[in-house]
Amino acid sequence: MGKSQLSVKHILGIKDLTRDDIYLIFETAREFKQVINRPIKKVPTLRDITIANLFFEDSTRTKLSFELAEKRLSADILNFSASSSSVKKGETLLDTVNNILAMKVDMIVMRHPSPGAPHFLAKHIDANILNAGDGTHEHPTQALLDTFSIVEELGEIKGKNVAIIGDIMHSRVAMSNFFALKKLGANIRVCGPPTLMPKYLGSLGVEVVHDISKTLEWCDVANILRIQLERQEIQYLPSLREYNQYFGVTKEMIDNLGKKIVIMHPGPINRGVEIESEVADCENSIILEQVENGVAVRMAALYLLAQGRA
Ligand code: CP
Repeated sequence: MGKSQLSVKHILGIKDLTRDDIYLIFETAREFKQVINRPIKKVPTLRDITIANLFFEDSTRTKLSFELAEKRLSADILNFSASSSSVKKGETLLDTVNNILAMKVDMIVMRHPSPGAPHFLAKHIDANILNAGDGTHEHPTQALLDTFSIVEELGEIKGKNVAIIGDIMHSRVAMSNFFALKKLGANIRVCGPPTLMPKYLGSLGVEVVHDISKTLEWCDVANILRIQLERQEIQYLPSLREYNQYFGVTKEMIDNLGKKIVIMHPGPINRGVEIESEVADCENSIILEQVENGVAVRMAALYLLAQGRA
């Protein structure tokens, strides 16, 4: 019999999850995916749970996806955005969160620009914390929905060749994907300009390639990332036009492969920079399936953390 509880109190990063935790989240997400495709999409599972969504950084997909997942599970929700809060008046992160917890909040979903911010909170408060992206560090639910989507598409991940293309240095999505893909037995290559490749990749067992055509020929799955200009204090690239010329994925490249590869992107997409529109919208693209799966995967993560509270 499979296990029915996670080994962790918080989901701070994929690094802390076991392979069994990941499989349990997948198994639970499959059940919730059936629920959200029914005419009545709501279940009373988290009726007595209050969740605060604390977003100290912009988000479209993750924020809406968590909020919808919480609503589908019948939780009570508080939404907080730093841009319209007393953080602007100098309140510390811990004071903000303690004030929210005084309102009897059980779980916190947090996105923050500082790596380690959710780990800091986990040391000081009793609520369960889900990391919705901390700076350039981790974005665990994105990697869970990415790997869940690969399993749905290809049947399994073990032995599959997964390429992650683009700005690896500034990508929390890449970091969480490395941990998840390794735990599930995939082969990983990254491709992008040398200036956007962190030094630690070798120690994670990730191969680095700078030739986009060879990378596409090698892979079963191409997960294409955007260039995160907002996180670059110095200029790592001459221009986005030059990046597009050397690393942009075009429909011609995909058509010339002579095999089908799965196209993924965590969003937001910069069409015409890292990916041509015809690739983002082609039949091999599962970009919108990733978004759909995000709701089911986040329902599973919230449900399993709440189980641990019982
Ligand atoms: N994939 C992702 O994290 O997108 P958002 O920044 O819109 O949440």
